[in-house]
Amino acid sequence: MKKRVAIIGGGQIAEKVHVAYYKTREDLEVVAVVGVNEESLRSFAERNNIPNYYTDATEMYAKESPEIVSVCTPNKYHFESVMQALENNCDVFCEKPPAILAEDARKMYETALAKGRILAYDFHHRFADDVSIVKENIEQGLLGDIYFVKVKALRRNGIPGWGNFTNKVIQGGGPLIDLGIHMLDTALYVLDYPKVKKVTAKMFKKIGHKKDEGAFGKWDPSKFEVEDSLFSYIELENGCLIQLETSFALNIKEKSEMNVELCGDQAGASMFPAEIYTDEKGELVTLLKREEADPDRHSKSIAAFVDRCLGKNVMLADGKQGYAIQQLVEAIYQSAEKGESISL
Ligand SMILES: NC(=O)c1ccc[n+]([C@@H]2O[C@H](COP(=O)([O-])OP(=O)(O)OC[C@H]3O[C@@H](n4cnc5c(N)ncnc54)[C@H](O)[C@@H]3O)[C@@H](O)[C@H]2O)c1
Repeated sequence: MKKRVAIIGGGQIAEKVHVAYYKTREDLEVVAVVGVNEESLRSFAERNNIPNYYTDATEMYAKESPEIVSVCTPNKYHFESVMQALENNCDVFCEKPPAILAEDARKMYETALAKGRILAYDFHHRFADDVSIVKENIEQGLLGDIYFVKVKALRRNGIPGWGNFTNKVIQGGGPLIDLGIHMLDTALYVLDYPKVKKVTAKMFKKIGHKKDEGAFGKWDPSKFEVEDSLFSYIELENGCLIQLETSFALNIKEKSEMNVELCGDQAGASMFPAEIYTDEKGELVTLLKREEADPDRHSKSIAAFVDRCLGKNVMLADGKQGYAIQQLVEAIYQSAEKGESISL
């Protein structure tokens, strides 16, 4: 019997990643898509050979009885969509960020636990081969004691000209909750999601309300409500310091930087592509170097979720980690808004 899959939010990520992957599996069938606009839903369903579409999720659950649900709605609606899917006893794969509020991410995590359902988030960068290679070497002690980590998710002129990315209420914020959260998850994952002690952050809105066009199209500067860059120091309980830099728009040299660098007392590592380096007797030494970063992260992320649904014990970005990262993101925004450090 094929497992029945429903998509909540038939937009671009649902089509390019979720439906595209589910269609490669013979053990799954996408039975329905839910959205708000009937015309675009019809066309989504037709293009992707999905038999039914609904503007009412309650009706969809009653008629289709899906077992697996992908939540691909805008950030603001992740919470209600995930909770409804869990209440209907589905396993859920939710796009990032988990939610807008940490309290909501906590409820999602606890509901999944109480219902005995799988809840996973699409933090797909951690599924790159580069990450598993670096993580294995960390576990074998190659880097020694890691005490400083740089997390960069930077775009020089990449304010998105589509979707809701500049709308604070729907998105919950700017580059931190959209881009920075990806690299932050990668860093926390290789460090085994350590406990955070304190965060200090500062954010800026210096460009998005003045310009109206960038590498990712045009936006309305009068509706630019989010930060365009944010910088934070995150102190971990084990003494390690994470420095986070994230931007949609920032006058830096590179067009874009998405990376994590880890500094240990024996060696350092850069994640994308994986590279590990040290020095011996005054010479710089490369211990490991991949030429290119693994591009195939998204399908590995969703494949892991499906494998877990089918009973395999594979790694996921799970509800507990989703709650932890949402707490951290919330604390970073609070610190930036209040202009003071926040203890967790
Ligand atoms: N993992 C990644 O790298 C990645 C990449 C892109 C987007 N995303 C995430 O995916 C989500 C969707 O992004 P997108 O770019 O596909 O946006 P999108 O605007 O293309 O699609 C969102 C869809 O949800 C529908 N929708 C809105 N409110 C709804 C509701 N209450 N119930 C059901 N459907 C609703 C919209 O009509 C639209 O079709 C966002 O949370 C975003 O952060 C993640």
